[in-house]
Amino acid sequence: MHKEIIKKIKSKKVKIGVVGLGYIGLPISLAFCQKKFQVVGFDKDKKRLNLLKKSVSYIGTISNNFLKKFINKNFFVTSDFSKLKKVDIIIICVPTPINKNKTPDLNYIKSAVIEIKKNLKVGQTIISECTTYPGNTEEFLIPLFKNKGFKIGKNIFLGYSPEREDPGNKKYTILKNNIPKVVSGFSENCKKILKQVYSQISKKIYLVENIKTAEFTKLFENIYRSVNIGLVNEMKSVCSKLDINVIDAINAAKTKPFGFSPFYPGPGVGGHCIPVDPYYLSWRADQFNLRTKFIKLAGQINDNRPKEVANNLITNLKKKIKNKDKILILGISYKKNSDDIRNSPPLQICKHLNKKTKYRLIICDPLVKVGVYNLLNRFKFKNIKNLKNKYFIKKFSAIIVMTDHDLFDYNFLYKNSKILMDCTNVYSNKSFKKVIKV
Ligand SMILES: NC(=O)c1ccc[n+]([C@@H]2O[C@H](COP(=O)([O-])OP(=O)(O)OC[C@H]3O[C@@H](n4cnc5c(N)ncnc54)[C@H](O)[C@@H]3O)[C@@H](O)[C@H]2O)c1
Repeated sequence: MHKEIIKKIKSKKVKIGVVGLGYIGLPISLAFCQKKFQVVGFDKDKKRLNLLKKSVSYIGTISNNFLKKFINKNFFVTSDFSKLKKVDIIIICVPTPINKNKTPDLNYIKSAVIEIKKNLKVGQTIISECTTYPGNTEEFLIPLFKNKGFKIGKNIFLGYSPEREDPGNKKYTILKNNIPKVVSGFSENCKKILKQVYSQISKKIYLVENIKTAEFTKLFENIYRSVNIGLVNEMKSVCSKLDINVIDAINAAKTKPFGFSPFYPGPGVGGHCIPVDPYYLSWRADQFNLRTKFIKLAGQINDNRPKEVANNLITNLKKKIKNKDKILILGISYKKNSDDIRNSPPLQICKHLNKKTKYRLIICDPLVKVGVYNLLNRFKFKNIKNLKNKYFIKKFSAIIVMTDHDLFDYNFLYKNSKILMDCTNVYSNKSFKKVIKV
């Protein structure tokens, strides 16, 4: 049966179902649509589905015009999960957050699995792209195939491929097919199918021995980032006290052609991945009485970073401006060129400033869709158009750059601002003398 499926994939006759149409599921759906596959997207959020049906994107990296090319042509979206019966390949892209006590919250996967179970049929391939602990995909999905005459690798297929999309990264995107895909499957036949599925949307496929290695790989990649970001932020604090420019030091260190990969300091880690994923592995390791000290230490440093930056800002601001002065905050998303505010350090910094001071904060972030998030209601926002007007800029006692976006004109801001503070590294060049680096 697997040979038939592979043939159908090659001739683009398989129908693809994507469960969860968020930052990951929507771009994946469109990557397959772009390659002329029929795709059905499933989501529980009716508001999102209604927007998609009108070709309105809720994700910054996907434009309405791009969506329009596919919606109701070869991309159909629905909350009717019985339509899962009609697809050949099911790709699960639901959230995998953590609970308050930093343990995995698997409720979204559980609810997706319930819907899939009701609609499973012979010949389907079930793939998860969710970031999770090693062993989780098989633990949740294998029980689906019991008692219905299913034989994994013979008449039903199971695989895993971790998602590496980096929202905001313009060079590497799933839509450009230039992010190598790690894949694996439950059996050799499953692996062959996975390889064929993903070679449709990625130029490079890397097959690993088993699903748990693929799950681990994703966590390892993000733990590597978390630990190195924690390290560089610690280095920045040390450098500040020693009056050393940390960026100069990083630029010098990276001239070494081996053994050093540069990471850059910032106001902390955010999004769905770095503040979350490492804890999936530490939780799993705890079950084996293994203490993952690096993961926990990096987590502590990174979690503490927004508060540290906020306190540094307050110390500097107190010396320079008055109690109720107006401050302009540039960027509220968690990273460059992204519209994502999940676990955003700038947001945490603003909350801390509001709690500890009487400054009047005005935020400008040209990418974040402000009306969509209730938690932004407590803040005042201004349109980026205002930043072209030097009189508008001069109204503020201080400007703080919290997230670097390509849309900001940093030279213009430099020329016209009274006090400029940089939590990113956009003013790392020595020529920007008046900037306070926080
Ligand atoms: N965002 C990233 O940068 C990123 C990168 C790599 C991997 N991942 C991983 O990808 C997975 C998805 O993350 P995301 O950022 O796309 O999440 P998201 O919150 O942006 O989107 C998830 C979507 O799933 C929907 N959903 C929730 N439960 C559902 C269910 N039972 N059935 C159908 N739809 C359901 C939600 O309504 C939402 O639209 C996670 O495991 C995450 O760790 C995310």
